[in-house]
Order: sequence, then C-alpha cells, then structure tokens
Amino acid sequence: MNRSAPAIAGKRGVIKRYFERLPVSSSTPIVTLDEGDTPLIHSDRLSDQTGADVWLKYEGLNPTGSFKDRGMTVAMSNALEAGSAVALCASTGNTSASAAAYAARAGMRCAVLIPRGNVALGKLAQALVHGAQVLEIEGNFDRAQALSQEVAATHSLTLVNSVNPDRIEGQKTAAFEIVEALGRAPDIHVMPVGNAGNITAYWRGYLEAQGAGWSDTLPKMFGWQAMGANPIVAGAVVDNPTTIATAIRIGNPASWSGATEAAAGSGGAIGAVRDKEILESFRGLAAEGIFVELAAAAGVAGLEQMAAAGQVPKGATAVCVLTGNGLKDPEWAVAGAPQPQLVEAAPGPILEALDLA
Ligand code: F0G
Repeated sequence: MNRSAPAIAGKRGVIKRYFERLPVSSSTPIVTLDEGDTPLIHSDRLSDQTGADVWLKYEGLNPTGSFKDRGMTVAMSNALEAGSAVALCASTGNTSASAAAYAARAGMRCAVLIPRGNVALGKLAQALVHGAQVLEIEGNFDRAQALSQEVAATHSLTLVNSVNPDRIEGQKTAAFEIVEALGRAPDIHVMPVGNAGNITAYWRGYLEAQGAGWSDTLPKMFGWQAMGANPIVAGAVVDNPTTIATAIRIGNPASWSGATEAAAGSGGAIGAVRDKEILESFRGLAAEGIFVELAAAAGVAGLEQMAAAGQVPKGATAVCVLTGNGLKDPEWAVAGAPQPQLVEAAPGPILEALDLA
C-alpha cells in the first residue's frame, strides 16, 4: 500500500527528494549530480526462468555509474558543511570514482587508496579524470580500508567509505524508490555483497518505508558474495579474497553485522556464488540488453541459484539490484564475445558477411 509517498515529482537528486529522511539541514550545501531515480526494469527472461516476477534496479545509471552516488551526495554535502579540506576513501573502484566526482563538484580535495592491479580501468580513469590523488598499495582492499581508517582517526579529513554513516543513509533511498515503483516492498530482495554497506542501507530503507506506511510488508533480504571472497558465509575473515568480480573482492567487510542483521531480521540469507555463475548471469543480462559489471551480476546469479534449488516461490515479486555499469570494466565483455569482423568497405562483402548476399 502506497498511502503517503512523499511528493517527489520533479525533484532531482536524493537529498532534495528525501530531504526529511536524511541527516542534512536547510543550511547544508547540497553537493549533487542528480543521482538516484534509477529505472526498475522488468525482466521477462528472469521471470520466465524463476517463476517470480523479477525487476532489476539498474543502479549503473547513476551519474558515476554505480549506487555509490546516493551515499556520496550526503557524505560530501556534510563534509563541505563541516569545512573538511580532504575527503579520503579506500576502494575497489566505484567508491573512489564517486568520491572523486563529488569532491570535484564540492571543490574539495580527494584522495583514494586502492589495491594495485585490482581496480577496473574505467573506475581508475574516473578517479583520475576528476582530479583525485590516487594512491595504490601493494595489498588488498581490506588493508587499504584499515589504513584509511587509521589515517582518518588521527588527522582531520573526512572518511567517505561506508563506515561514514551518511553513506548508508543516502543509499537507503534506493529502497524508497523501489517501494514507490511497486507500490509496496517486493517479497524478495536480492543483491551483491562486498563491504556490506549497501545491504545494510537497503534493509534500513525498507524498514523506514514500512514505518512511514508506504509498504505494509518487508522483503526477505538475500545478499550474495563471491565464493572466493565470502567471509560472511564462512563466518570468518578471508585473508586473501579472490574473485573475478573485483568490486566485491573483500575479506573483512566493514558492515558485516549490518548484513547478518538484514538477512536474519528479514528471514533471508547471505550466500555465495561461483565466478562461473557470475559470468553466466553477466552474459544473460547482456543478452537482454543490460550491461553490468561483474559484481553487479552476483545478485542475479544468486537469484538463479535460489530458483534452481526451488527456493523462489512462484509468483513472488523479486527485485535484483544491478549495482554498477558494465562500461566501467569492458575487459570481460570483450574477452567472452565474438571478435569484430573486418570487411571490405563495399556493399557486397557486407551483405556476404551478414549472410544476406
Ligand atoms: N557492486 C558493486 C559494483 C560495488 O562496487 C560494490 C562495492 C558492491 C557491489 C558491494 O557493495 O560493499 O556495499 O556490499 N564496492 C566498494 C567500492 C567496496 O570500493 O567501490 P557493498
């Protein structure tokens, strides 16, 4: 039941749309790139395959190509209001891309700490083009995260990782949008899990939406880690996480408890999918016109795994979050696809190549 959804038509950016529900005030300078309001796309293919009514929340259409922008607008606006000189984050790539863009927007200095060799080129390009200072470490994301927290604890800079509560607050707005689009919460909510901030945010958003009377129900929350980077499923820190989905190559998630609370509190679960399954789901989405990065396909791979195990009730409404845009990391797309064909620049050879001669 959508009794009292806020009057958001025409308002751009999540702070303007959901001002009352975010930790900002009328004196906060709003740093925005008109993020949010992303499409909820119906998937006939996945609906047929799973027996559920499957919707895809395409977060890759945010300004920097990932869901991070929802949290970054709140974190950066408050950092600017507080007079912070430097924004710092550790990242597997998307947080750094978003931080760099929003810091540029705010006129603030930005520094990002990334694991050398494990950030997709498009994301690195974003951080560089927006003028962030990019520091690479010989170490993984978990090490970078620990280091950035250590530095932030003793020096006056603003950490814009999801340990910054503003990030979670901003990201919860995606759940509001889903509830608005469907008129209620879905039965099943499926998404990838890395540092676990986003699943924490969605669960908070659904709880708030219910509290506000926008939905009578809550979804069951299913979060999916990659098999080689599955600390929550294993119940122990993974020292050397591995997966082709570099965005979620994380062994010690900052919001671990948020993820377990979302799963347990909703009657859902945290599971793991193999790299091979992630790749198959990535290609399946591409075949229906939706280009995501690998990590973003992990949630869909999870839904497909659940369906194969008979765990998706027929006719249930399911939402899968597609967290990032495929253009950030075209390497895997190109590797698995047929190569371009060189043809002579004349109609005959073109028609021949198309089997239309
Ligand atoms: N999908 C994508 C595309 C991501 O970039 C991330 C996280 C996740 C899923 C997982 O979300 O961490 O909230 O559980 N990327 C972070 C980064 C870690 O640094 O860009 P999470």
